[in-house]
Amino acid sequence: MKILVTGGLGFIGSHTVVELQNKGFEVVIIDDCSNASEDVLEGISRISGQNPIFEKLDLREGHKVQDFFERHPDIKGIIHFAASKAVGESMEKPLLYYENNLHSLIYLLKRISATGGAFIFSSSCTVYGQADQMPITEDAPVKPAESPYGNTKQMGEEILRDTCSVTPGLKAISLRYFNPIGAHPSAEIGELPIGVPQNLVPFITQTGAGIRKELSVFGNDYPTSDGTCVRDYIHVVDLAKAHVVAMERILNGKQEGNYEIFNLGTGKGSTVLEVIESFQRVSGMNLNYRIVDRRPGDITEAYADTTKANRILGWKAESTLDDAMRSAWDWEKKIREKDF
Ligand code: UD1
Repeated sequence: MKILVTGGLGFIGSHTVVELQNKGFEVVIIDDCSNASEDVLEGISRISGQNPIFEKLDLREGHKVQDFFERHPDIKGIIHFAASKAVGESMEKPLLYYENNLHSLIYLLKRISATGGAFIFSSSCTVYGQADQMPITEDAPVKPAESPYGNTKQMGEEILRDTCSVTPGLKAISLRYFNPIGAHPSAEIGELPIGVPQNLVPFITQTGAGIRKELSVFGNDYPTSDGTCVRDYIHVVDLAKAHVVAMERILNGKQEGNYEIFNLGTGKGSTVLEVIESFQRVSGMNLNYRIVDRRPGDITEAYADTTKANRILGWKAESTLDDAMRSAWDWEKKIREKDF
């Protein structure tokens, strides 16, 4: 069965392609390569032994999207990752984010609502802002977005919900990711941040590899166990597997209604210092870090209540923080071609 993965050369997309192939799906990737390299295709086929079909395409070009589907009329489901994702950049270039993230979604939904089919949307725990209660359930209120990026995730979910409500043939699931980290255990694919990483784990591994001098820990005066912020770090392979399970749920006709939302996390919060300790444990290195001021816009804590995904999807994150940090470090060493 043929599944389209948009943004399939990206971090979460590439790991999901591998898990789909492992389950016997035929995968077609669309990526515009704005934040990913075609080399990722080689990593994917080295792991799975299969070459996905790949088309370099910008989803904002509606006529090309139409042409693509005319050439692939047998696509039964879409997993839509392709989106711009840098929070800071979205503050500087809001129109780029609204255009990129919303146009692509609308063109894909126009197509799939005409033919019917399964649709999985990449959403984020950012929709909850600083939730009032931990762990965060799917019923927690969506808070006003702190950035255009966050707003495109909220609006994307609304566009999907409204389209589903008038299109019975469209079956969709929004997956709200907590903090995806790590890499494939083979170290054939992983995260490839462009420039200075904004996220914690790639910054840690690059510091370990000597590319960055030291990690700045943004604040240690939060009301948490050690004063640093708490997040729910989930291994990207666990996250990828959840997409396959969600797709199978729709394709096997198991869905309740035609639109559902699930949190994807481990259910366990870790502080920034705990993530650093984990890195030190798995790498056997001491990490250079310094406590600095809080980063504006950071929330104190966010970790998932995963009961709904566990019960309804029958999915559970299996890897530990150490497993994820070990894979992130193995990947960093691989791309630097060094053993530290
Ligand atoms: C960020 C995005 C979020 C996105 C998620 C994807 C913001 C405000 N939010 O979440 O929308 O869905 O990435 O993974 O950017 N930290 C440091 N030093 C660093 C980098 C981070 O101490 O150099 C700390 C942060 O203060 C935070 C934690 O590490 O407490 C995680 O940060 P990060 O990886 O950027 O993720 P989020 O901010 O949770």
